[in-house]
Amino acid sequence: MTTLLQLEKVTVKFGGLVALHEIDLTLNQGEVLALIGPNGAGKTTLFNLLTGIYRPTTGSIYYKGEVINKLQPFERVKKGIARTFQNTRLIQGMTVLENVLIAHRQCNTEGLLSSIFLTKKGRDRREAATQECIGILALVGLEHKVDELAGGLPYGEQRLLEIARALVSKCEVLLLDEPAAGMNAIEKKQLVEKIRHLSKEFGIEIILIEHDMGLIMDISDKIVVLDHGIKIAEGTPAEIQQNPQVISAYLGGEDDLFEWE
Ligand SMILES: Nc1ncnc2c1ncn2[C@@H]1O[C@H](COP(=O)(O)OP(=O)(O)O)[C@@H](O)[C@H]1O
Ligand SMILES: [Mg+2]
Repeated sequence: MTTLLQLEKVTVKFGGLVALHEIDLTLNQGEVLALIGPNGAGKTTLFNLLTGIYRPTTGSIYYKGEVINKLQPFERVKKGIARTFQNTRLIQGMTVLENVLIAHRQCNTEGLLSSIFLTKKGRDRREAATQECIGILALVGLEHKVDELAGGLPYGEQRLLEIARALVSKCEVLLLDEPAAGMNAIEKKQLVEKIRHLSKEFGIEIILIEHDMGLIMDISDKIVVLDHGIKIAEGTPAEIQQNPQVISAYLGGEDDLFEWE
């Protein structure tokens, strides 16, 4: 198995507050990892650390064997680490295809100048980009909606469109921040199938923060449980469900971790 991403004793401090404490983590190609834990556990901090918004106070982040601690967010996107946001950032008044084409242009800077499109070479390049984007939309199951306005799509499909936008950046690691938020049961089921498909068929590694425990148990190869910045458990869904430390960390909490359908 190829290891893509690795954290070695990563600590993040904000002043005196330790948001993450000596976190070790190894992720392999094609794995789906879920991050869970109560509010304030450090989940969002870990995402921000991976995308380069925060840097480790101590410890190292490796991507394909290279230390990426100091890389800027855009440099990490270029290397293949992409994320979606909790609130969608689609351009509502543009079509599905246009939304993906824009993301494509942003990461293919040589094709940026619109004047280039006046030349034959430019037109060919645009046609190739369009075909590539339609192919990616097909991966998430939106190929029949290319000409519809993004703002008119049901919520679940808007989330899929966001994933398509991340995929055109040729990501190898996809970070999903609550991808199922606001979805109904059918949309959630479809999302689980699409995410599984992407990870297994294309070897994309997916890390998600999600509160829907049923979905997490369905989708994840591995679950990491954070509590007050400490990794209290790591394992398969079956292992996590039986982990006494995890159960006690959640017992009596407002949202009972293991109360799902
Ligand atoms: N930029 C920041 N400055 C100061 N403290 C922060 C910052 N970001 C997060 N924290 C603190 O770090 C801890 C972990 O927060 P966070 O990663 O948002 O947790 P979670 O996403 O699991 O709810 C919390 O105590 C939070 O208040
Ligand atoms: Mg958070």
